[in-house]
Amino acid sequence: MLRTNDVATIRCGMIGFGMIFDDTYRPVFERRSSEPLYYPATGPVGVSLAAVATRTGTRAARYLASEAGRRQPFVNFAGPDAVEKLLASGVDAVCVATPDDRHFAAARAAIIARKHVLIEKPSVLSLAELDELTRLATDNDVLAKVVYHKLADPDHKKLRTLYQDGVLQHVNNGYCSLLEPKSISCGQFVEWITGRNPATYVAVHYLKLIDFTFGPDWALDRVSATGQRGIVGPADGSTWDSVQLQIVYRHPDAREAAFDIHTSWVTPDNFPGYVEQEVQFRFDNAVWCAHQRKRGVELTVENRTPGELKNTPNYHYNGTFLEPWGERSQRGYGIEVIERFFQEVAFVEYGGTPDTRNERLAKMRALTYNDITADRNCVAIVQSLEAILGRAAAGAPGCVVKVNGPAGGLVLSEPGNATPHILYEGRV
Ligand SMILES: NC(=O)c1ccc[n+]([C@@H]2O[C@H](COP(=O)([O-])OP(=O)(O)OC[C@H]3O[C@@H](n4cnc5c(N)ncnc54)[C@H](O)[C@@H]3O)[C@@H](O)[C@H]2O)c1
Repeated sequence: MLRTNDVATIRCGMIGFGMIFDDTYRPVFERRSSEPLYYPATGPVGVSLAAVATRTGTRAARYLASEAGRRQPFVNFAGPDAVEKLLASGVDAVCVATPDDRHFAAARAAIIARKHVLIEKPSVLSLAELDELTRLATDNDVLAKVVYHKLADPDHKKLRTLYQDGVLQHVNNGYCSLLEPKSISCGQFVEWITGRNPATYVAVHYLKLIDFTFGPDWALDRVSATGQRGIVGPADGSTWDSVQLQIVYRHPDAREAAFDIHTSWVTPDNFPGYVEQEVQFRFDNAVWCAHQRKRGVELTVENRTPGELKNTPNYHYNGTFLEPWGERSQRGYGIEVIERFFQEVAFVEYGGTPDTRNERLAKMRALTYNDITADRNCVAIVQSLEAILGRAAAGAPGCVVKVNGPAGGLVLSEPGNATPHILYEGRV
């Protein structure tokens, strides 16, 4: 038996080091620097956090100074040229976890530097930006992927399996809600929240779930939205407390399917589950009702729930455990989906000989659950939503965006105004 300590390692750069880094990326790096990923096609491949780029560097410095269990050293870049320095520091892949309106610049720079890129949802805010990243990723022979962890939730995998297998037939309509606590909008995100809305931030989870689960043989047809203001910012301002979004698809048989997605970031901080998430999908022959946190566990601990510990926790997304075999772990589908990206990078770089790299790259790009080329409908909805909310904040509520109509790919119509506004000319 041959043993070797020579393990290939993907050196990763992290752009943005906030809440989601701590939730899902940190556990991956802490574990995978010493316990490589292993796949038959690649053998063992380590993943290490080599560098971080943020605006101030404060959180990363605090983490570096901490005694955190399996933390490895990394270079901490801060300031206006932090991204540039990170990209020049010899990383192989880059994860972009900055606020959503700052994904594009960071991802673009990383792709041009020929790094594989994983972008937090929503990938970008317009189809023009998506087109550019897609073109650059092709020109530079790298992967450009988006994180949609809900697709890795076992319940959602089963929903899709049942639909694709024809057990659930012909989705007709549904609703989804995702409500975040006030501490998010009024604390965690206070630095960048002005002019933003909770739908772009979290409705995308469900937009992708709907688009991926019930597609691809249907067409996005139109988008409308409204919402409320007055808690996070002024009632006549551009910062939204809650948003109700409606999207309509057309099946190949011309029947329509409509989905309402309600989002908020102003629910009370002592809400029992912290983040409230519920869906209902109705089919010709079935109804699927699911609650993302009420999965059977209800926990009450004196003085610790519902703040520090949750009454109705979702341990499937992300949880810290004492495993039956004695070790401490942190796992769940939120972490699994990040590791999947590194598996795909490992497959491209180490899954065969250099002369077949392009074939491996094409194979990984064809994965529609996370490739940016398959994110067109989600980005189209986000771009439409942002335009509709922008018009509402400017005094013109009730706009609708038609998708792939005679006048263009995304065309916004305003009540009482006969002139349509073209958001995107090409086909979505
Ligand atoms: N997958 C999920 O469930 C999930 C959950 C939360 C957030 N997110 C996504 O992750 C991203 C970040 O969210 P968060 O909650 O971690 O936010 P956060 O505010 O906690 O952290 C943002 C980080 O980005 C850094 N940053 C800001 N502007 C930057 C710039 N121009 N260059 C480099 N760094 C910059 C900040 O310094 C900070 O480290 C968002 O896109 C959000 O949608 C995903």
